Amino acid sequence: MRILVTGGAGFIGSALVRHLVGEIGAEVLNVDTLTYAGNLASLKSVESAPNYQFLRADICDRARMQEAFASFRPDIVMHLAAESHVDRSILGAADFIQTNIVGTFSLLDTARHYWDELDARRKSAFRFLHVSTDEVYGSLGDEGLFEETTPYDPSSPYSASKAASDHLAIAWHRTYGLPVVVSNCSNNYGPFHFPEKLIPLMILNALEGKPLPVYGNGANVRDWLYVEDHARALFTIASRGRPGEKYNVGGRNERRNIDVVHRICAILDGVYSDRGPHARLITNVTDRPGHDARYAIDASKLESELGWKAQETFETGIEKTVHWYLENEWWWRPLRENVYSGERLGVFKGR
Ligand code: NAD
Ligand code: DAU
Repeated sequence: MRILVTGGAGFIGSALVRHLVGEIGAEVLNVDTLTYAGNLASLKSVESAPNYQFLRADICDRARMQEAFASFRPDIVMHLAAESHVDRSILGAADFIQTNIVGTFSLLDTARHYWDELDARRKSAFRFLHVSTDEVYGSLGDEGLFEETTPYDPSSPYSASKAASDHLAIAWHRTYGLPVVVSNCSNNYGPFHFPEKLIPLMILNALEGKPLPVYGNGANVRDWLYVEDHARALFTIASRGRPGEKYNVGGRNERRNIDVVHRICAILDGVYSDRGPHARLITNVTDRPGHDARYAIDASKLESELGWKAQETFETGIEKTVHWYLENEWWWRPLRENVYSGERLGVFKGR
């Protein structure tokens, strides 16, 4: 099985590549342009595997994508490359429009022309998995879950760009017959998570005795999924999902942000009892503009149709994650020093 992965040097992409190369034994081509979020250090464990190749290229570059498809000849495309951070999209949406919308178009159209020329057997087996987010559905109130049929209602430039790309992916199936499958997943966490996102930022700030900035009152709810559970779900959907269908992915682990931060503090208190309660560092800061109140996923279609189930609970996953950061300073220290040191992103004058 030959799988072309885009964005494989990112957080979820690298977990997926490690799973495909190490556990599935697929031939993998990782196409990634290496933005600030792309990091080949996350792929150290597979970089010299005979079934792994890396191509540094931008998905918006049609000529490079055509060459990559023609020479690698994938059976499956798993498209994860994106600008992924909501706060950065608030400060400047241009890269989000370019990569998430124009880049997805470039990849879909390249895939369509490649797929058109395949023989009948390879044509019917081919899949294009477009990896998306639950944020396309907007915000929930206190009750209810996002289902695959929930209408789209995105709030941020990031989620609007992902919504646009989902519509393109489904349109390429309906219009051209390309065997596209779309996945919409909730918040991931785990090892190799870039420290701009809530969980790794809180872990590293707490370790360094810095304030833990909680947006607003901290009552916003996210539905957390351990990244390795997501990687398994993505392979399941790409290999067995039905063309033209959407699958929601989530771990049934809803938590308020403030409770997540308290849990991280409690784990660190257990390791460093002499540093005082880490929760004293919690600081309420100006809310994120357009901040969605609650996300929660109904993953029953994926569970019943394809037999996937999350293996980690939030309690087991967060414990593993905090310990991973304690043991892997070699990975995060250069990012904190040279790429992003944790300053507030996503606020602008007038808010
Ligand atoms: P990430 O920001 O960690 O990684 C994105 C990767 O894409 C990086 O390696 C980057 O270099 C690469 N990339 C960006 N622009 C590119 C371009 N033009 N050409 C080629 N490569 C490019 O993102 P992530 O958190 O791993 O998310 C991966 C995908 O999953 C995204 O599509 C995101 O929308 C989706 N998603 C993320 C989450 C989450 O909680 N992180 C949840 C649901 C869905
Ligand atoms: O739901 C899936 C989405 O999850 C993905 O599509 C996105 O790519 C991914 O970044 C993530 O988006 P969020 O905006 O939910 O993640 P983030 O880690 O930025 O924020 C999680 C929550 O924590 C959110 O309610 C905002 C809050 N927050 C975040 C940061 C960085 C804080 O309170 N303080 C912070 O410093």
